[in-house]
Amino acid sequence: MDLRDQVAVVTGGGSGIGAALARRFVAAGAAAVVVVDRAEDAARAVAAEIGGVAETVDVTDAEAVAALVGRVLDQHGRVDLFCSNAGITTGIGVDDPADLWHRALEVNLMAHVYAARAVLPSMLARGSGYLLNTASAAGLLTSPGDAPYAVSKHGAVAFGEWLSVTYGGRGIGVSVLCPLGVATPLLMDPLAAGRPGALAVAASGAIITPEQVADEVVEAIAAERFLILPHPEVGTFWAQKASDPDRWLAGVRRLVSGQISD
Ligand SMILES: NC(=O)c1ccc[n+]([C@@H]2O[C@H](COP(=O)([O-])OP(=O)(O)OC[C@H]3O[C@@H](n4cnc5c(N)ncnc54)[C@H](O)[C@@H]3O)[C@@H](O)[C@H]2O)c1
Repeated sequence: MDLRDQVAVVTGGGSGIGAALARRFVAAGAAAVVVVDRAEDAARAVAAEIGGVAETVDVTDAEAVAALVGRVLDQHGRVDLFCSNAGITTGIGVDDPADLWHRALEVNLMAHVYAARAVLPSMLARGSGYLLNTASAAGLLTSPGDAPYAVSKHGAVAFGEWLSVTYGGRGIGVSVLCPLGVATPLLMDPLAAGRPGALAVAASGAIITPEQVADEVVEAIAAERFLILPHPEVGTFWAQKASDPDRWLAGVRRLVSGQISD
């Protein structure tokens, strides 16, 4: 996919990776970039900076997402690229309240379903469109200290695979973005607080910038590559996990207990 003259929607566009994607798409010549966030001021600030459109939408509200897509179709005639990117961490485990689990599953997994449901009919009617879903390295590996994050991000990868299998032959491109550490509030705030998941991420690989992620995304969607790994080491860890899960799990346990530092 060539981004020139394309209409792109980016959720979680008010901060971090989403904001960097929105900026990068404009730089690549997109015709329109819609910056979607539940944080109104953040969406407005990024949209104002890049000459985009701000939309205040909670991505877990399926009706609101459908209405958002309807407005973009009314205004621009099409959605070429929908980046379902908003996400949250929780730092919780088995004993924590179910509503906190449900919230993470809604934002990190079901939002991709609601986005696909809203945007696929018009894309399929035109025979073209692109879905970029942000998962995480946690969707291929795991997330120490944050069970719902690991579970929901695995689900996001699985859903992306399913979309590709189901619609890839009908003109729909699908990519799943799986970074490790990226310097955004989502990682840096828990890192500053010493949370185990963030410490494990920092010990596993380089913390890169959102702009580096955005560059990688533009290159990957140009090549229509399904799996986007801005940290190449994630592919190595994933292969190690697949070839010997017990050894890999033992290694992650050592990492979490601080026995290895890199
Ligand atoms: N930062 C990392 O190290 C890292 C690594 C792997 C994956 N990711 C993923 O990248 C994506 C972007 O995260 P980021 O690091 O840029 O974080 P961030 O916190 O900087 O940005 C996330 C944005 O999503 C918005 N958001 C959250 N819930 C929302 C909702 N229900 N509706 C609408 N907007 C919502 C927030 O307001 C925020 O602006 C997430 O899916 C995250 O899980 C991040």
